[in-house]
Amino acid sequence: MSAGSWAAFQAMGPEEKRAVFQPGGRPFHALIAEQFDRAFLDRLCELTTRARRIAKTRGGRLFLQDLLCDRRAMLYFAQPSTRTFLSFYAACQIVGLHPAEVRDTSTSSELKGESPEDSVRTFSSYFDLIIMRHPVGGFAERIAWLLSNTDRVVPVINAGSGKDQHPTQALLDIYTLQRSFEARGGIEGKRIVFVGDLARGRTVRSLARLLMLYPGVSQCFVAPESLQIGSDLTAALDAAGVPYTCTTDFDRAVSEADAVYMTRIQDEWDAGPKRAGGDGHPFHFTERHLDLLRPEAVVLHPLPRRDEIAPEVDADPRAVYWRQVRNGMWVRVALILSIFEKDAEVDRYHADLVR
Ligand code: NCD
Repeated sequence: MSAGSWAAFQAMGPEEKRAVFQPGGRPFHALIAEQFDRAFLDRLCELTTRARRIAKTRGGRLFLQDLLCDRRAMLYFAQPSTRTFLSFYAACQIVGLHPAEVRDTSTSSELKGESPEDSVRTFSSYFDLIIMRHPVGGFAERIAWLLSNTDRVVPVINAGSGKDQHPTQALLDIYTLQRSFEARGGIEGKRIVFVGDLARGRTVRSLARLLMLYPGVSQCFVAPESLQIGSDLTAALDAAGVPYTCTTDFDRAVSEADAVYMTRIQDEWDAGPKRAGGDGHPFHFTERHLDLLRPEAVVLHPLPRRDEIAPEVDADPRAVYWRQVRNGMWVRVALILSIFEKDAEVDRYHADLVR
């Protein structure tokens, strides 16, 4: 990554940033959805399935564990997390990376007034990979830029930044969609419906961008005016020529969808006391919606959920959010292996398996 000033770095367009994040063509850092191209997504999905297959035997699990057993990873999570943290932690264990964690900044020197920037620079002195979640939008990018000015440039993976990006969730969502539509020609041409807090949901923002790489995909955004997607995203959809609609007609959107992507209200960003009980989500996916949903459509959710999907829906085979949870671990295994350029070894082991 070339150094330069932070202001100059921020002013770069996605293409320029891509060259910076992935010198040599493959992701070194994983920071924003826009850095990934279609070839990378297809390759990552393939690698995920191969690693999964390899892990079915004890010999295969030991092979995977040996790949990065000489490396260490830092999980720096300055915001709450269950699935992203644990799936990254488990992914590190699967590939042999030794994980360490800071999850509560009140136990680190940040409490003494150290800046998050200095804290992360410290991590880079001890670890070979930084996986980080932070409430400040763009902060993972800032860290990658900052490290580029040091002599210990280690890969940075954005595990969720502010309201803007959650690129690895989008990768696992793509993998889940691709597997769900495997027998129906893949993601191309499908209608993906996003529902909920689309203004502040970072998973939606990252996934909507990745879906632009699939020809014929149309996107539908179901939210009241105050929670609708931002103008930067509509501008990107317009520029990419992607057909999309914004609506409040939830039932109709469900009946026309190939995939319904539910999200919760992101009220941690609201000022003032939190609401107790129901959170005022305008749209609830209940058993009634299963009758509206096409037989071959699927329902996703990045989780955690509140009451926007009724638990009774879980038993329907079209509800794939628990599969997303499991897929997340394997996609993160594949991403880490790709960053450390271990994919050719995985391919060789897999070729021997299927021979
Ligand atoms: C999401 C997040 O953190 O943005 N959670 C996750 O990582 N699966 C979604 C959310 O918190 O609503």
